[in-house]
Order: sequence, then structure tokens, then C-alpha cells
Amino acid sequence: MDLSPKVQSNSNGTTILPPKETSLESNGHEMKGSYRTNLARNENMEKLQNHYLFPEITFRVVEHLKKYPDAKIISLGIGDTTQPVPEIVASEMANYAGGLATPEGYSGYGAEQGNMNLRKKIAEKLYKNLGVKNTEVFVADGAQCDISRIQMLLGSNVSIAVQDPSFPAYIDSGVIIGQSGDLDHKSGRYKNIEYMTCDAENGFFPDFSKIRRTDVIFFCNPNNPTGHAASRKQLEQLVEFATKNGSLIVYDAAYFVYIADDSPRSIYEIPGAKKVAIEVASFSKIAGFTGVRLGWTVVPEELLYSNGSQVIKDYDRIVCTCFNGASKIAQSGGLACLSDEGYKAILSTVNYYHENAKILTDTFTSLGFNVHGGINAPYVYVHFPGKKSWDVFNHILEKTHVVTVPGSGFGPGGEEYIRVSAFGKRENILEASERFKRVYL
Ligand SMILES: Cc1ncc(COP(=O)(O)O)c(C=O)c1O
Repeated sequence: MDLSPKVQSNSNGTTILPPKETSLESNGHEMKGSYRTNLARNENMEKLQNHYLFPEITFRVVEHLKKYPDAKIISLGIGDTTQPVPEIVASEMANYAGGLATPEGYSGYGAEQGNMNLRKKIAEKLYKNLGVKNTEVFVADGAQCDISRIQMLLGSNVSIAVQDPSFPAYIDSGVIIGQSGDLDHKSGRYKNIEYMTCDAENGFFPDFSKIRRTDVIFFCNPNNPTGHAASRKQLEQLVEFATKNGSLIVYDAAYFVYIADDSPRSIYEIPGAKKVAIEVASFSKIAGFTGVRLGWTVVPEELLYSNGSQVIKDYDRIVCTCFNGASKIAQSGGLACLSDEGYKAILSTVNYYHENAKILTDTFTSLGFNVHGGINAPYVYVHFPGKKSWDVFNHILEKTHVVTVPGSGFGPGGEEYIRVSAFGKRENILEASERFKRVYL
């Protein structure tokens, strides 16, 4: 068979050139010398900034290790958990997995929306007295995947607002699906996306009198990276703003369990929220499931489109089309997490991370920095006035071999800040604190 590429014409009569010998680097830069298909790059991918934040950090750490091969790196960068999952949870998953090797224990696909017992347990235990029905809970393989599924539900024809700074997945998935214009390199902002500034001046909560109406508002609470958890009054303002404008709130509650004061843990604690908000959450940061993969999304029946139809019906369709249900092993672990014993164990790990956050907060405060977050979130957000956050990141890495995250990686509003994760092991948190003191004292 002749496999050599041919010159063809497409249906418009336009000549399609034969694939060329060339190549592309993974970041999109042209390379020479390897095969090229005739596939045009998705122009939305073309709009994306070259590097997703965390791979860029990994790249810099690898370069650092080439320079200092013996360095004992401490990673307080990416928010990955370090403490083991509770024994009761691990043994439940092991039992379930073991059962798969037996005729009685084996089963195949589950419901796309998740195991009904888990949906019930989530509704009862985590949304007690908030009127969330088990059928409104969609179990998933994590919050990040659900953010993309929600974006698929929304499509390219909607305008979005995001906190600045915030978790990069909202903007990046919005760009990929076509909700944004080009990146304005000067401001670091994509056109057609409304950036809701959250800084020390406004108490890390947007001033809605300055925010343009959008169809969708992504709201991460407690916020990653600032660590700020909105008060009840602030969330009432958010719901009021969305209701007035007929906007949908996509509320990311991935860190709800870290809220230590009386701030709301769910958007549905705010009256009227079920008419305007979808809530996304995850077992990742509450139970060390970052690698196990389990989360959920609540889509209330009351949430309607402008034509009066129910959003939940479309979300169900998206889940059935794009997802075949979360791993049953992971779901058995999720159920164990929500048992009385499992939940107690989870909270004890959350407390451990809270203590880490306090150590980091005390360290930076004693060094004279303004420190935010840490109380209602596992992130400590430190201000370096007048400094570029990537420069601070580089300086800290160079001098202490500690990996942090530059605030500007979460949006231009994060400039001058770094985020330090409290998810480390205690000995590493203590060691990192000593190293920070040696550099900044
Ligand atoms: C705010 C926020 N949402 C979602 C995620 C992703 O969670 P998951 O591991 O469930 O995909 C993260 C992970 O860091 C996060 O910080």
C-alpha cells in the first residue's frame, strides 16, 4: 500500500498540503524535522498562555536540581496532600477491590451520576438542613474534571467572571472552550473575561459595584490562593448580585472543610442560592483523595435557564455523555469517609494541616510580612510589596530549596504575593520555616 501523503482538495476546493516533515514541542513552539499532520491547531488552544502554572513550577524545580543536585527540596508549592488516608477508608477500598476478584463481589459499570448511597450520604451529612436532594448530587472523579464538564454545559457563548487571583482551571477551561478573547500581554488578562479583583484593600472579596454583569460567576470559596473565606454577609452580596443580574454562580467549595469560623461552608446556606448556584466539591483536600480521585457537584432542581428549562437535566445529559461514573473503589472510600468514624479521622488530618498553617503564618509574621489566609484554608498567602512574585518564587527556591507558588500564577491580581501550602509533612514545615528565617531575618 502506498502510504505517502497526497495533495488533496477539501470540500471547498481548497488545496490541503501534504503533511510536512517538521515537529512541535509540547508547549506549541515549532520544531524542525518531524512529521506534521494537516490538522489545524484549535485556535482557542493557541490563545492559551504557553504554560499551565504547575508544570512551569515543575520545570523550574528540575532546572534548580540540575544546578544543585544534592539540594533537599521541600515542596510547599502545588497543594498536594501528604498525610495518609484514614485506615478505615483505605481498608474499605481494599475490601471493595478484593471483592472484584470474586464472582459475588464483581460488578461492572455503575450509575453515571454515582452510587445512590454515596449521593444520599453527601446530601444528608454535608448539606444537612439545606434541602439538597440526593438526586441533585452528581458524584465525579474530582472537582477539576467537573469544572470542565460544567464548561461543556455552558458552551462558548457565555461571558464569565472570575476572582483575581484564583485557581487557574476556570479561566483556562473558559479559554479552551472559547469564552474569552485574546490574552492582553500587558495586563495579563484575557479579553472578554471579567476579573474580580480580590486584594488586601477590599479584604479579598470583590466590590460588586465595580463588576460588569456576566452570565456566569466562578467563585472559589475558601479561595485558592488567598485563603480567604467569605463571610455570610459577603456571600449574601454574591447571591444578590447574581440574582439581580440573572447570572449563574459556579461555586467551588473544594476547601469547605477548612473553614474554622462560622463562615458558611456551602453556598446553599444563603437563602435563594439554589436558584442561582451550582456547587462543586471534592474529597481531594478533605480526605487525601488527590490520587484516589473523587468529588461531586450539586445542581439544584430550582436552577433554570432563561427559557424555563432545568439546568439539572442538561447536566445529567453531559454526565451521561462525557463520563461513565466515578471509580466504584473510590466511591466505597468516599462512603467510608462520611461514616462517623471516617469523618472523625478526616477532621483530625484537617486539624494537622491547620496546625501547619499556623506554624507558617507565625513564621512569616515574625519576619515582618503581612500574611493572609491560613485560618479557613490550607494556604498561607504572603505579601512581598513591590516585588514580582516569580522573582520571589525564584529567590526562595534559590536560597532555601523550598518550592512555593507565585501569586501571579493565579492571575495578575496575585502579583507581589506567594502562596505557601500547609499540606506538607510537619517536619518539612518546621524545616522550611527555619530556612525562611535564615534568609529573611
Ligand atoms: C479550588 C480548587 N478546585 C478544584 C481543585 C481540583 O480538585 P480535584 O483534585 O478534586 O480535581 C483544586 C485543586 O487544587 C482547587 O484548588
